[in-house]
Amino acid sequence: MNRRDVTDVGKDFDRYLRDLLADFHREPELSHQEYNTTRRIRQELEDMGVEILPSGLKTGLVARITGGRPGPVIGLRCDIDALPIAEDTALPYASQTPGVMHSCGHDFHTVTMLGAARLLKEHQAELPGTVKIVFQPAEETADGAVEVLKEQLTDDCRLFLAVHSYPHFPAGTLGLKTGPVMAAVDRFKVTITGRGAHGAEPHKGIDPIPVAAALVQSLQTLVSRVLDPFSPAVCSVTHLESGNTWNVIPETALLEGTIRTLNPADRVTMREGFCRMTEAIASAWGAKADIEWFAGPPAVINDERLTALCIREASAMGFAVDRQEDTMGGEDFSQFIQSVPGVFVRVGTGGDCPSHHPHFTVDPAALTGAAQYFARMASVCLESLADD
Ligand code: NI
Repeated sequence: MNRRDVTDVGKDFDRYLRDLLADFHREPELSHQEYNTTRRIRQELEDMGVEILPSGLKTGLVARITGGRPGPVIGLRCDIDALPIAEDTALPYASQTPGVMHSCGHDFHTVTMLGAARLLKEHQAELPGTVKIVFQPAEETADGAVEVLKEQLTDDCRLFLAVHSYPHFPAGTLGLKTGPVMAAVDRFKVTITGRGAHGAEPHKGIDPIPVAAALVQSLQTLVSRVLDPFSPAVCSVTHLESGNTWNVIPETALLEGTIRTLNPADRVTMREGFCRMTEAIASAWGAKADIEWFAGPPAVINDERLTALCIREASAMGFAVDRQEDTMGGEDFSQFIQSVPGVFVRVGTGGDCPSHHPHFTVDPAALTGAAQYFARMASVCLESLADD
């Protein structure tokens, strides 16, 4: 097929996307509660004649565009949920739900993929394979991707591309970089149990507070002394609690926090080091440490070859391509690309205000280009897989 065709848009296309963005932005819904959002996505896809795959998902859905020519299956992925943040923008279409806001651009992602769906549907006959589009719920709570994967609707996808807005680039710029681009996110909770005593008689108890204090200090040495200094990692103790008055040595202390790593080997090293250090420090004081470990999504690692293809097409379409900044934030898109290649594409949406902020906005001027880019990439990827 002449793949340039897939980016041809009618004159109402940009208006359509802008209106949709306003509608989704006005009515944000929290993770696992994206009922109206899902209903609207479904309605738009049905109006386009795009097939929606039956599933047990309460929110979110998977659409399928089966090409007129046989070929491989690939996946496009966006997320659809909002955040518990009170919007403080002057947008005419600001959130009408108090305390809930699309401040991570998932409304932009949703509309981008609806736009891509429309373009791909118009060129369905020429497509050499099948495109599945995942409208994923609950990215912010990091469990939506796993829910979608359990439905086994995307098991045949040979690669995935994901969209994310990026406020630090203007519209017309894409952030594309090979290798790790988002961190693995692990969470820990430690309960240190000593023995309570009178504040005047510490020798009759086992004080958990100095144990916790030693632990907070020592944990930082994991990053600085155990890992390669060129390999980024973060260990943050974000919650520390013990005791409730001035003259009683408490029985327990609680520590909570997160460990972020970019490299899978470091993730293992950090967990082992964390457990070893925590148990050893507690036992050195005669106390006991109970460790609860919550493994979050793995790091998002952009595939080298696919990223090169994404960069080539971006340049051919006239986008500026920037090496996106690294972040130790997490993204559960990684769950989709544990056994197939994927690329997390950052789309410049301007504004320069970081996401998850009450002032966050996206520039609607970025919509049409983003939709065209994912439609084009879908057809390019199908062709390149067929050539393999
Ligand atoms: Ni996000």
